[in-house]
Amino acid sequence: MLKFQSVSKSFKGSNESIDVVKNVEFIVKEGEFVAIVGPSGSGKSTLLGLAAGLDKPDQGEVILDGVSLSSLSEDELANLRSSKVGFIFQNFQLLPNLTAIENVAIPLMVSSNLSEKDILSKSKDLLVSVHMEHREKHFPLQLSGGEEQRIAIARSFINDPKILFADEPTANLDTKNGNIVMELLQNLNREKGSTLIVVTHDHSVANLADRILEMKDGELSERKGTLAKSSHSKIKSSIKKKALSKQKPLSNSKSASKKKLASKSKLPLKTKTKTVSKKSQALSKKTTR
Ligand SMILES: Nc1ncnc2c1ncn2[C@@H]1O[C@H](COP(=O)(O)OP(=O)(O)O)[C@@H](O)[C@H]1O
Ligand SMILES: [Mg+2]
Repeated sequence: MLKFQSVSKSFKGSNESIDVVKNVEFIVKEGEFVAIVGPSGSGKSTLLGLAAGLDKPDQGEVILDGVSLSSLSEDELANLRSSKVGFIFQNFQLLPNLTAIENVAIPLMVSSNLSEKDILSKSKDLLVSVHMEHREKHFPLQLSGGEEQRIAIARSFINDPKILFADEPTANLDTKNGNIVMELLQNLNREKGSTLIVVTHDHSVANLADRILEMKDGELSERKGTLAKSSHSKIKSSIKKKALSKQKPLSNSKSASKKKLASKSKLPLKTKTKTVSKKSQALSKKTTR
């Protein structure tokens, strides 16, 4: 379904060029669900853009559903994308002057032979499936990040894509809505046999996939086995533990030394805890990007 042959991509900086994707080779079979993980800045979004034909490699070949993307004109590429590809962008990319339902409908409005009535009815069904039917007439600016994300997801399903690329589709969602989204993506994968490629920071999302690929400094490798619980949830649970232990006597050595520190600096322990939790917040923000 998707094949990368020695694909490289670099971007020109102010005085040097940065190699963002380095000699990447991999194959994804039809109907597979593949997760791509890796640190921020390692080239995951760039890789996804190359795979979907949104960007061109400097070297190598991307073959999508048996077609070499470099052999296609811009129009042919656009046709291929609107007939076979779904894409959920990291920053949604909704059109600000269109309502939620119009944003979902737009790919078909541009490319399909269906009547406007049929397209809007299909769009409405998709809004229902992402629990956004009550926001049908809202504009993107009137929606929260999580709501925009769900509209973007509904839009990516509108053409029943043979292959769907999702760039951190659960990053802006709480656990409940994240689960809803992953269920929708998995249904598309299982019931319609769509190939699914998901970039994610969330280890529990990656562990749902058939295979996990790891991007590191522009290089891609296959990961053996599942990932440990994500650091983000570890951070959250350590904050939770701290909050719960507030009423209890401080017994473990770390807390004891913190108490010592607080008394040394004549600061109430509360203030100290606040600083720590601020730090953790900054950290957890970092890990969700
Ligand atoms: N259009 C661009 N022009 C210049 N540099 C870019 C561009 N897109 C991405 N980069 C750089 O490429 C690197 C990888 O980016 P990206 O693919 O977005 O990583 P990830 O999705 O893993 O966080 C980053 O250093 C980023 O700044
Ligand atoms: Mg990215």
